[in-house]
Formats: sequence, structure tokens, C-alpha cells
Amino acid sequence: TEVLIVKSQEEAGNLYAEAACRLIKANPYATLGLATGSTPHTAYQALAQKVRENHLDVSHVCGFALDEYVMSDLSHPQSYHSVIDREVVVPVGLDPNNIHVPNGAADDVPRACSEYDKAIADAGGIDIQILGIGTDGHIGFNEPGSSLTSPTRMKTLTEQTRVDNARFFDGDLNQVPSHCITQGVGTIMKARHLVLLAFGKSKAAAIAASVEGAVTSMCPASALQLHPHATVIVDEDAASQLS
Ligand code: F6R
Repeated sequence: TEVLIVKSQEEAGNLYAEAACRLIKANPYATLGLATGSTPHTAYQALAQKVRENHLDVSHVCGFALDEYVMSDLSHPQSYHSVIDREVVVPVGLDPNNIHVPNGAADDVPRACSEYDKAIADAGGIDIQILGIGTDGHIGFNEPGSSLTSPTRMKTLTEQTRVDNARFFDGDLNQVPSHCITQGVGTIMKARHLVLLAFGKSKAAAIAASVEGAVTSMCPASALQLHPHATVIVDEDAASQLS
């Protein structure tokens, strides 16, 4: 794993955006793997700016979200469907028809999960997958204990992750959904380039365990050690427990 320690979230976002733009220039049909949460904000802002400045044609760029809550109303402002639209699709100018998010409102969730993996494969796989990391080492919503070869599937959110995400739901834990659909660790590992971003002291222990600890399902992000092209971009706080 390549570890880059940067001075600011802006610098990290720029590094991601440069890699994504290079990719899109080389292949206008590139496929981006998209994360939600706070971490990728600067990356999406930088991507939007570089796409504008370079007049890049992104009309054929495809996107796949990492995960989605299981919730009946996907128009809820905090559904990942809404978040991806607001934070990535609109600012970057992607075609919404090319963007896929797991269907958290499906009647048949297991089927929606296997169809999602098939859609990724049919698109030729993900070229660059942006990742955040949970304080417990999760990637996507693959919490500790997730098989490192897992496909896209439904999971129960841990109490800790629901507490971490309550800030998006007026701080009210009761409003945070209890289940989600997430790309599996195995799905994520199929992407050709993984870019994991982490900022702040709260991520330091998870980053140290992922980069320098044992590869174990108890720390799903440690699977990155097995990936041929994984880049971890951290600020000094998130790097503070690396030896
Ligand atoms: C988001 C996701 C999660 C987050 C992680 C960190 O799609 O899958 O794994 O990346 O929970 O969240 P933030 O960035 O809000 O600290």
C-alpha cells in the first residue's frame, strides 16, 4: 500500500481529482466508484473544478456508489442516492443515467444486491474507487467481521456507525436506518485502483491497524494490503499512529 501524508484535505482531494481526470482523459468511458460521508467532499469539489477547467467530456463517465441505507423513501435528503446526486453528479456534471446506487428500497434486497454486482461487471469493473474509513476500520458498510471476499449484500449497521452517522439525521439516532446495502470487501477489491482518504485524529487508530496491522476481517480496510494498487492519503492527524 502506498501511503501519502498530506498537509490538508484540499491537497488530498486534488490528488484524487488528478488521478480521476487522467483516467477520464485516457478513457472517456471510465467508471468511478463513489463513496459518501464527509471524507470525499474535497475530492469531489476538486474533481468538479478540474473537469470544468479542462473542459473534460464526462458525458460517458459511469459511477457506482459504495453503499445505500435500506429505507423506503430514497428521495430522503440523506439517502445515498440523494447525497451522490447532490455532491457528485450535479457538481461534476455527470449524466444521472450513468450513475448506479444500490436499491435500498427494493422488495427483493438480495436480488438487488446480486444485480448490482452484475451491473458493475457489465460496466467493465470500477477503474478508481474512492474510500473513506470508519473509526472501527470499516470500508463501505463492511463492519468488523465482514468476509474479505464478500459480495454486495445487506448488512446491519453497528451501533457505533449509527452514532457516527446520526449527525446527518439531526443528531437523532432513532432516525438513522438500521440496515444497509454495501458493496462487499470482495467487490471493492476488484476495483483497479483504490484510493482511501482519512482525515483527523479519530481515524488514526483505524489507519494504523489497516496499513500496519494484520490482514483480518476484524479490520476490513486491512484488505487493502492485498490489493495491487491501493493508495492511502491521510493528513498528519490521521497518520499520527503510524510507526
Ligand atoms: C460511505 C461509506 C463509509 C464512510 C465511512 C467514513 O459511503 O461507505 O465507509 O466512508 O463511514 O465516513 P466519514 O467520511 O463521514 O468519516
